[in-house]
Amino acid sequence: MISRFNTGCLLIGFPEYREQAQRLASAAGIAYADALIHHFPDGESRIRLPGSPPEQVVLCRTLDHPNSKLLELILAAATARELGAKRITLVAPYLCYMRQDTAFNPGESVSQRIIGRLLARHFDTLITVDPHLHRTSDLSEAVPVRRALATSAAPAMAAWLATQAQHPLLLGPDEESAQWVSAIAAPDGLEFGVARKQRLGDREVRIELPAMTFADRQIVLVDDIASTGHTLAETARQLSAHGPTSISILVTHALFVDDALARLRAAGVDVICSTDSVLHPSNQIHLDAILAAELRGD
Ligand code: R5P
Repeated sequence: MISRFNTGCLLIGFPEYREQAQRLASAAGIAYADALIHHFPDGESRIRLPGSPPEQVVLCRTLDHPNSKLLELILAAATARELGAKRITLVAPYLCYMRQDTAFNPGESVSQRIIGRLLARHFDTLITVDPHLHRTSDLSEAVPVRRALATSAAPAMAAWLATQAQHPLLLGPDEESAQWVSAIAAPDGLEFGVARKQRLGDREVRIELPAMTFADRQIVLVDDIASTGHTLAETARQLSAHGPTSISILVTHALFVDDALARLRAAGVDVICSTDSVLHPSNQIHLDAILAAELRGD
């Protein structure tokens, strides 16, 4: 994609995700600059970009804890446009608000659609990783930018797993995870299963394990998002009763809010690994290579 433009390209990163943004710029072979953010005493943000950006600007910011990040991102994109940028790409390895894709109760906002349209007003291209698309099949329906590119961390996760475990049994905690667990199992033909989940509330789920033998197996639980950790903890808790050799977790987006890690440890989880789409101590898989390939249009 970058090579289609000969007038130069600049990748701009934000303070909390600077290292990843710099790695991405270097992997994609494009120049890097910081967005400078000042927070006024009353909580408002001031954004400062390089004075004369080239025609193509890439803003890289991941959108966990999204509310203030989103607003600053919109300020940055609008400023880049005013300064002369013609094409603006957003690289958001974790894309927020994708799970609220319908009004579950009368009067609820369908946040996926509203945030999607907001982003589409300011960005020409969106690149993200394993967005949580459930009732919406195509990323461009959720975020109607000119080019909406969803790449997957599954190949990188499969490659990492191959260096860690021999013949593990992969398990997804719910029907939606089937796409990721099957993709990670595919390269080495690993055995996998998918549990069923009923969500009773933000912090309450019911899990029904598939009819498989878990005793004496290295189990790897795979999901796209770990938020409160209840989904994976309840799955691990039930698995523990079957006498597996070990229970590990492999997730793309490591939100792990509040006491999620403690809950998972208490449920019998041994190892937790994630990609760096969201910064977390469990990050072991870097996404810069696959994001750079999307940026270059490989
Ligand atoms: C939802 O379907 C996602 O794939 C995850 O399973 C979910 O977001 C996990 O949430 P929590 O960790 O709060 O149970």
